Amino acid sequence: MKKIVILFWVKGGNVERAAQKVYAMFDPEITDIFDVASFDVSTIENYDLIILGGSTVGAERWLDTKADNDWNRFFRKLESHDLNSKNVACFGLGDQVLYPDHFVDGLGVFKEEIEKAKGKLIGQWPVTDDYTFTDSDGMEDGMFFGLALDLDNQDELTDERVKKWTDQLKAETGL
Ligand SMILES: Cc1cc2nc3c(=O)[nH]c(=O)nc-3n(C[C@H](O)[C@H](O)[C@H](O)COP(=O)(O)O)c2cc1C
Repeated sequence: MKKIVILFWVKGGNVERAAQKVYAMFDPEITDIFDVASFDVSTIENYDLIILGGSTVGAERWLDTKADNDWNRFFRKLESHDLNSKNVACFGLGDQVLYPDHFVDGLGVFKEEIEKAKGKLIGQWPVTDDYTFTDSDGMEDGMFFGLALDLDNQDELTDERVKKWTDQLKAETGL
């Protein structure tokens, strides 16, 4: 049976709320959800679609390889696994009003790490007029590398965005 896993971090805030909304769109019989610190990376090969979700909370949390944070720990463990063209998608939370020059930059980090692990990045998402920001490391050629969410300023759009994006993932994977 084909399986899906949703991995998110941090716990207890907007990211977890968004992750639960993504989870609710899939068949619970074939879908698991973990905060990334509780996930046993050695089981990653059991999954056909891997969905990563996080927020952008400043470059130092993401990019300092020595930083003791749970995403970095996860990505370091992932280095001994080959995702071997498995489907991997990501969603990222940000705040386009307070951080318009760095809106959802974390999606760029997810993309880089997914490519390093040889995953197949799916679920790219158009930069439409309903977003207002000036720059982002999380996009290229008019597409975000994954679903961009802003629960701080546009929470009313979240359900609709999550539904549309997960429909897109289902169409792209047949799951
Ligand atoms: C210290 C700090 C730095 C942040 N930096 C950014 C940023 O660079 N870009 C962005 O889009 N959002 C940024 N945000 C906004 C968060 O990504 C956003 O509020 C998110 O919903 C938080 O999710 P959480 O409640 O799960 O932590 C920042 C928030 C904080 C508290």
